[in-house]
Parts: sequence; structure tokens; C-alpha cells
Amino acid sequence: MSNIEFFNQLAKSTNTYLNTGRMSLFDFQVYRRTFDDINKKIGLKSGDRVLDLGGGCGQIASYMARHVREVVLADGAKVALAIARKNLSRFANVTYQLVDITVLPLPFENNSFDHIVCYSVVHYLRDHNEFERLVLDLLRVVKPGGKILIGEIPLVDKAQAYFEERRKKPFLNFFLNARYHVKKFLLKAMYGFGKVDETQTTGLKYTRPVIQTILGKIPGMRFELLEQDKKLPFANSREDLLILRAV
Ligand SMILES: C[S@@+](CC[C@H](N)C(=O)[O-])C[C@H]1O[C@@H](n2cnc3c(N)ncnc32)[C@H](O)[C@@H]1O
Repeated sequence: MSNIEFFNQLAKSTNTYLNTGRMSLFDFQVYRRTFDDINKKIGLKSGDRVLDLGGGCGQIASYMARHVREVVLADGAKVALAIARKNLSRFANVTYQLVDITVLPLPFENNSFDHIVCYSVVHYLRDHNEFERLVLDLLRVVKPGGKILIGEIPLVDKAQAYFEERRKKPFLNFFLNARYHVKKFLLKAMYGFGKVDETQTTGLKYTRPVIQTILGKIPGMRFELLEQDKKLPFANSREDLLILRAV
């Protein structure tokens, strides 16, 4: 099963609050918090045209749409897009496009977006070459001076450091491990056991040096890795990559 088929299954499996795979069962503010964290890093303006690439069922786009002139929500999963279209029907400034991010160039004009958000997506690529090619194409599509936020990238080095620290406090570690397994079990129960097959999805890993090596050789831009709001579900192991295309 491809990643895209997995996300089609996930989109169908349960209500929209849970179907992004976030382990945030009891944080009903998780999408607002995520949007606020993104907006703090980009600084969206009311006249902006923004691409939400891999936007899934549109939970984050629903906040974006209130802040900008236009949102293009692009995703490879048809079912997710159909759900987004239904849930966001009150926003006349959102359009929907079926796009596979591994098929390049992306179907967008050069310099056509003020900013691009690609959140919690690039670990579904097959390898780092695909990541590099995607970044190069996003730099073509974003306007000069525009920002690309590639959010929630799993960083192996960050996760390792976090778990090493955690193991030094065995009681807390035991509690956090137990909580993780309870949440995972509840999430699977809500998806309907066996209805969503996670086993075939990619979990492409990144490290800070890998990102530095890939992006360090690309001219015409600056980049930095930024921590997430500590309340976000993956803040201990993931970071957001902010790329600024030179003017
Ligand atoms: C974890 S979800 C993130 C959704 C949304 N950005 C968010 O953070 O709530 C990952 C999204 O990436 C999309 N995706 C994965 N591989 C893709 C591909 N090759 N082309 C387009 N979209 C893809 C999935 O369909 C899914 O909607």
C-alpha cells in the first residue's frame, strides 16, 4: 500500500479531528496551536496567496483561510481532499488540487505563491534526493522574498537526545512510555482496528547535518531549523525548516 493510499484510509477512518495521525487525543486546540506556530514563523498577511502542500483534510488550512487572501490546498490523497472540500466549504478563498509531490515539476507557475507550507509531509518521501528535488521546485514556485515552511520534520538526532535525557528519570520515563502506548491503543481503536494499515508507510528520517548538507549547497536562499511550540505533539523529536527565498 502506498503512503497516499494509507492517507486515503486514514481520512475515511474516523472524524476529521483525529485523521491526521496526530497523537493529541485530548488537545482540542492542536490545529489552532499548530497554525499559530506556523504563522509566528511566516507572518502571513491578509493579501497573501499561500500553498498548503500535503494539506490533507484541511485542518490547518481552515485557520490559514481566515488570515490570507487565497489558499491552494494540494494533496495526493483524493479522499482527504474530498473531506477538506466538504469541511472548508464555508471558505470561498480555498481551492483544492490533487497533486503528487514526487512528480515534478509541481503543477504551479513560477513565483506564484507568497508563501508555501508543507507540514508533516516530507517523511513520506522515499529518500533525501526526493526531498532535495522538492525543495528546488518549491523555490521555483514561491515568489522572491517568500517563505517556505517545511514543518514537523522528524530529526533522529533530536529524538535521540530527548530519549537519552528521559531515561535518566526512570519513573517519568515509565509514565511517559505507558501514556504513549495507551494513546496509541486508543487511536487505533478509534480508527477501527485493522482498518488503517500503517505498516507500509515511509518514515524517512532526517538529521540536522543531513539537512545542512542538502540545503547548504542550494544558492539563492537562507534556511534555519526552528523548534516547535512545546505543546505540539511532536515537539520533542521534530522541528520546522524555514526557507527564505532571496529577493
Ligand atoms: C500527516 S498528514 C499531514 C496533513 C497536514 N499537513 C497536517 O499537518 O495536518 C501527511 C499528508 O501528506 C500527504 N502526502 C503524503 N505523500 C504524498 C505525496 N506523494 N503527494 C502528495 N501528498 C502526499 C498525505 O496524503 C497527507 O495528507
